Amino acid sequence: MATLKAVRGTRDLLPPETALWNRIEATARAVFARYNFGEIRTPIFEDTSLFARGVGEETDIVSKEMYTWEDRARAQSEKTQMLTLRPENTAGVVRAYIEHQLGETGQLQKIYYIGPQFRRERPQKGRYRQFSQIGAEVLGPTSAGSESPLRDAEVLEMLATLLDELGIKGWVLELNSVGSAADRARYNDTLRAALVPVVGQMCVDCQRRAVTNPLRVLDCKVPADQPIIEKLPVIADSLDEASKAHFDAVLSSLDAAGVPYTRNHRLVRGLDYYTRTTFEFTHSGLGAQNALLGGGRYDGLSEAIGGPKAPGIGFAMGEDRLVLTLQALEAVAQTKADAFIAPLGENMNPAALALARELRRDGLSVDLGDGSFRLKKSFETADKTARRIVILGEDELQSGILTVKDFASGTQSKVPRGELVAFLKG
Ligand code: HAM
Repeated sequence: MATLKAVRGTRDLLPPETALWNRIEATARAVFARYNFGEIRTPIFEDTSLFARGVGEETDIVSKEMYTWEDRARAQSEKTQMLTLRPENTAGVVRAYIEHQLGETGQLQKIYYIGPQFRRERPQKGRYRQFSQIGAEVLGPTSAGSESPLRDAEVLEMLATLLDELGIKGWVLELNSVGSAADRARYNDTLRAALVPVVGQMCVDCQRRAVTNPLRVLDCKVPADQPIIEKLPVIADSLDEASKAHFDAVLSSLDAAGVPYTRNHRLVRGLDYYTRTTFEFTHSGLGAQNALLGGGRYDGLSEAIGGPKAPGIGFAMGEDRLVLTLQALEAVAQTKADAFIAPLGENMNPAALALARELRRDGLSVDLGDGSFRLKKSFETADKTARRIVILGEDELQSGILTVKDFASGTQSKVPRGELVAFLKG
């Protein structure tokens, strides 16, 4: 029988790497708390139409990459439904905002999430079919200031702080504005016209996009199409005065806060809900999949899925990519237990468990060996997983003086049991 393996595009995360995942999540939670964000946990699957209406039928995500199935009715009271594993979390957050009438509070909602997302993409380094995002959204009624460019700048400044605190050196913030829905419609017309004479030389996807959604042509990664795309009109020239002023205000706040950025006219992002500010933080160490995170403003998303007007802005970081970047930047320190307790003989096992319990309750991390091990084997095992070995035999139990060896320094000490915790913490 063939051995079973994790499904293509999915993987197991094992210790010690999971320690890095936990550190990233703990840092993110701590930073979010300082900016007064609260956590939301939405379901991992949703009604398919949420993504079709929210993210957009024409996007790669919805048209090619979703894990969708028909969930058959189990009772007369139930309906057969099309369900989808969430490919992203913004649509789910906005659905929850509408469902729980969070707009009624009159306050800005500042919420974050950490969890798995699913897209049937071609797996490669930094691109998986199950991946994890750490994201945040700020949304609310216009009266709460949700449209203000200060919200955009604050979110970007928070991201710069978070990446710095994670130790991600060398990130680049790329920024653009895709304008209002009207600006985009105007730009789409301009692009459609500009594409007519050249689209015949482009890839089949672009030929289709040129008709259905010309903006998506800018996402094209086919090398031969790039020189043509470089010459197309830029969206900045299609923005109306209000959108231009909004973008300028975002840039001046970033300048005042000292957050560096570069402008990228082609950054239209692969999801249809964006309006005005769009951005990505990239890192050169990631290779082809160089986006650490992406996000932007989505002033019409709530209405697109049947809710009240609730402008918002947010982002999602690819946690897998944060891990890859940190691994490339530093030799990630392997964590070892404070001590390994080696009982000498099986009759010492109960006393060894009692000692381990005491030390662990005092906050130390402890591995417990086994009295059936020879001393040599205990030493070899301990050296791999702990910083020190504590020997517990008849003599030690009687005298209350334990033998402790520190592997890094090679020193051996006699430590009275009452002083053991302080010694191991030192
Ligand atoms: P997105 O650009 O589709 O945006 O994804 C955000 C980030 O998730 C990407 O920059 C990347 O780091 C990571 N990511 C995406 N797909 C994969 C994959 N297959 N494997 C590994 N990592 C991946 C969104 O999802 C929006 N919901 C962001 C947002 C929030 N916009 C407004 N609010």
